This record gives sequence, C-alpha cells and structure tokens, in this order.
Amino acid sequence: MSGRGDHYFSEMPQAASQAGTVQMRLSDLELQLASDTGVFSHGRLDAGTRVLLERAPMPQIRGDLLDLGCGYGPIALTLATRRKRAKVWAVDVNQRALDLVRENAKTAGRGNVVASAPDDVPDDVRFAVIYSNPPIRVGKAALHELLVRWVDRLLPGGSAVIVVHKHLGSDSLASWLNEQGFPTTRLLSERGYRLLQIQPRA
Ligand SMILES: C[S@@+](CC[C@H](N)C(=O)[O-])C[C@H]1O[C@@H](n2cnc3c(N)ncnc32)[C@H](O)[C@@H]1O
Repeated sequence: MSGRGDHYFSEMPQAASQAGTVQMRLSDLELQLASDTGVFSHGRLDAGTRVLLERAPMPQIRGDLLDLGCGYGPIALTLATRRKRAKVWAVDVNQRALDLVRENAKTAGRGNVVASAPDDVPDDVRFAVIYSNPPIRVGKAALHELLVRWVDRLLPGGSAVIVVHKHLGSDSLASWLNEQGFPTTRLLSERGYRLLQIQPRA
C-alpha cells in the first residue's frame, strides 16, 4: 500500500486513487465490484473472503445482517444478493471503502445495503448474523475489542462467522473467545483458512 503510514484500515487513505474492478464469481452469483487503492485486497477477491462466502452457513433466523470490516464490499454485496429482503450493514472505519460499498450497492441495485462507520450504527440495532474477514493487522488488543463489541450485538440464536488464516492466529483467537464466554467452534479449514463460528455469550 502506498502512502506513508497508510494501512487498509486508515480512516482516510492517502494513496492516490487508482480505481479497479473485481469480477467476483461464486457458485451462486456473479458481481462486478469497484475497488481502489487504500482498500483491502484492491483489484481481487481475497482468498479467505472467498472461503467465507462459499462455505459459511446462511442465517437461520430473521434480522439484520452485518459485514464487519466491509472493505469494498464483497461480503455485504453477496449477503444482500442472497437475502434481498434483509437489511445488510456494511461497517468499516475506512471512508474510501464505505464510498466503494455505496457505489457497488447502487450499481448492483441492492438498496438493502447500508454502508456505515462503526459509531453511526444506531445502538439498538441487533444482528442475526455477522460475517467478517476481520482486520488482524490492527493488533490483538484492538481485534479483541472489535469482536466483543459486535458479537455482543447478536440476536439470541444468531451467530458470527469469521475467517482467519491459521498463520494469523486463528486457533489462539478461538481459544480466547471461548475463554471470554463466547462458544466458538471451527466449522472447517480450507487452504489454511479457518472458519470460526461464534455464538453469543449466555
Ligand atoms: C481483512 S479486511 C476485509 C475487507 C473485506 N471484508 C474483504 O473481505 O475484502 C478488514 C477490514 O476491516 C476494517 N476495519 C479495521 N478496523 C475496523 C474497525 N474498528 N471497525 C470496522 N472495520 C474495521 C479495515 O478497514 C478493512 O477494510
């Protein structure tokens, strides 16, 4: 990523814009998405995100859906296409990412996507499911805080499904979540990516 001090999780990426497109082909849908520099996985679908989108179970209960750390929006747009009647919250700190999600939702005709900074999601919103390819690079403490903040907003019977590579601490993260009282299980492991399912704490 270019730009001194620029990360994919910068609020205002400094890297000069270089728009690109991602042709996302999944087993059940195809979407053309805009991406840009300064945003995670510019120009391609991340391999971990693909595992999540192809293999995670869809929610069993009704309610709003959350893409936590949405980037340019491959998860949010997939959820919104699979569940056209559900409201899908696409949350990120990166303003360029949020602009891309808005553009991608408009292009795809998905009026059920709401792109929002974390603090702009009303406090009373609860989620039937959270899907996330979480920002491991923010560091362990910030990652833990992020997960607790949002998993505590699941509806009863809801669950979060996150994808984390085994080399990026998936197994210790699962142990930590269990220690905090969030029942967490490994749904599967594919090409080194673990899918973890996290239930609300009692
Ligand atoms: C690994 S990327 C995944 C992006 C996208 N979901 C994908 O699969 O391509 C993680 C995202 O989390 C975002 N992020 C970092 N800190 C965050 C926070 N505190 N709240 C919400 N999103 C955050 C980053 O800006 C980044 O876009």
